[in-house]
Amino acid sequence: MKRSMLINTSMALAALCSVGQAMAASPAPTPYFVANCANCHGTDGKSVTPIMPKLAGQDREFILETLRAYKAGTRSGTIMPQLSKGYTDEEFVQLADYFSTVK
Ligand code: HEC
Repeated sequence: MKRSMLINTSMALAALCSVGQAMAASPAPTPYFVANCANCHGTDGKSVTPIMPKLAGQDREFILETLRAYKAGTRSGTIMPQLSKGYTDEEFVQLADYFSTVK
């Protein structure tokens, strides 16, 4: 009993420490899958052609809502509606956090 309480306490402490680290991290951590967007939107979302929308520095809410709309089928497009279906909402949040903080 005592031993398991000690283990629980140290696990809780470890969890608290990692939360602290995540909150201190700035800018947003780079999700490994941002590279999936680079072929079309450019490295770090810095599009090199005017026909491809730039993602770097875009408004976070805009990116998030646009991705959700593509997935929900309420926004049309040639590529993004299909592509967005491969990502979870949590991943959309990570992508929006990341691209909106790229300078
Ligand atoms: C195969 C090329 C391709 C890839 C890969 C791709 N996109 Fe796109 N993206 C497009 C095109 C083309 C559009 C314009 C809408 C359309 O036709 O689907 C677009 C539009 C967007 C828009 C709307 C931008 C605006 O200003 O209207 C967002 C946000 C976006 N993409 C995010 C992403 C993210 C995040 C990824 C990576 C997970 C990604 N895209 C990967 C081709 C791509």
